[in-house]
Amino acid sequence: MKIPFSPPYIDDDVINEVTDSLKSGWITSGPKVKALEELTAEFSSLKYVACVNSWTSGAQLVLKWFGVGPGDEVIVPAYTYAATALVVLHCGAKPVMVDVLEDFTIDPEKVKKAITSKTKVIFAVDFAGYPCNYDVLNEIISNQDIKEKFSPSNTIQSKMNSILLVSDAAHSIGAKYKDSPAAIFSDITIYSFHAVKNVTTAEGGAICLNLPSQFDNETEYKWLKLNSLNGQTKDAFTKSQAGGWKYDIISQGLKVNMPDICAAIGLAQLRKYKDKLLVERKQIFDSYANAFSKCEWALTPPSITEKKSSSFHLFALRIKGITESQRDAIIDEITKSEITVNVHFIPLPMLTLFKELGYSINDFPQAYENYSQEISLPIYPQLTSEQVGLIIDSVTKAVEKVITASI
Ligand SMILES: Cc1ncc(COP(=O)(O)O)c(C=O)c1O
Repeated sequence: MKIPFSPPYIDDDVINEVTDSLKSGWITSGPKVKALEELTAEFSSLKYVACVNSWTSGAQLVLKWFGVGPGDEVIVPAYTYAATALVVLHCGAKPVMVDVLEDFTIDPEKVKKAITSKTKVIFAVDFAGYPCNYDVLNEIISNQDIKEKFSPSNTIQSKMNSILLVSDAAHSIGAKYKDSPAAIFSDITIYSFHAVKNVTTAEGGAICLNLPSQFDNETEYKWLKLNSLNGQTKDAFTKSQAGGWKYDIISQGLKVNMPDICAAIGLAQLRKYKDKLLVERKQIFDSYANAFSKCEWALTPPSITEKKSSSFHLFALRIKGITESQRDAIIDEITKSEITVNVHFIPLPMLTLFKELGYSINDFPQAYENYSQEISLPIYPQLTSEQVGLIIDSVTKAVEKVITASI
């Protein structure tokens, strides 16, 4: 039985919502995007969410809004997907990488040490859907000495008057921090609605605004919308209405808007996310956690702790004490039973681009250890308990075979 890693959840409700968009005579940004923005905002306990066509474009737009550019630094974990650092390079700034903790989240102590007068933004990645230590990160940013170091270079930065905390929530829609949606603990949260994510629009992303009180979130939402569509004063839907032809271009915007036909997929999924899709993900996560916690070689990933509750995006199993090549051999064994597993992540300093820019994995020992022992198992609502049983069996046999072979 072939078991894919992360197929999208497509049921009749998704198909009907997409069909509705197709039949409506309007398939790009319009009412479905607006509905998805409102539902995502409600789900995140926030008022303003701007949908875009990926996490990556959302992050680019946010860095543009904050005026980040050459000479600036943005702190990112070494253990993330490349996009988190690429968006920093795209705007001409420098990604300053820091190591992660054993639980995969960015190490706040390392963040503190990495802050300079050039630091403008911190990207905190909720790896696998498990939130970062937002209390500690916020404490660091609001510390008087750190605030005094902050040197604004435009009016938005002056208004902010501190480092901007952005949550890379590509994995973590539905995650909780202190029993509230994690999105209310950073200034801006960006979700990914990429095809393999918990909620998908095929490609897509959402920028959630939680800016401090000196900002009017509605004004900044309007800025993001305008600049996600070429800096045009009217969106294409409004422009298409009778008499609505006249528009102006008032800034050098990006073209990163989300089409309605994509929003329709996410809308149908998000409507049943909290009560069904997220619950089913948790059940699969718990089945793995129960089975593997009985194996002394297994290190199961964090999910629910005193302050945090995961969105169960990945089941990042680690095998204690193994080497990178043993991990690779275990994956080869699992693959023989036609089960697709994955590794999250190859740390950024191990990728050619970043090596050539001078980053070295030797500076990030915890990221390397997490990577070399990690295997991400399939986790999605459509998995049957029979399939989950097969995966547990296959992983256990593969680990035991490779470990035994090495003794
Ligand atoms: C942690 C993280 N950040 C950002 C991204 C980029 O998301 P997108 O593909 O929507 O641009 C991903 C995608 O896998 C991710 O895993």
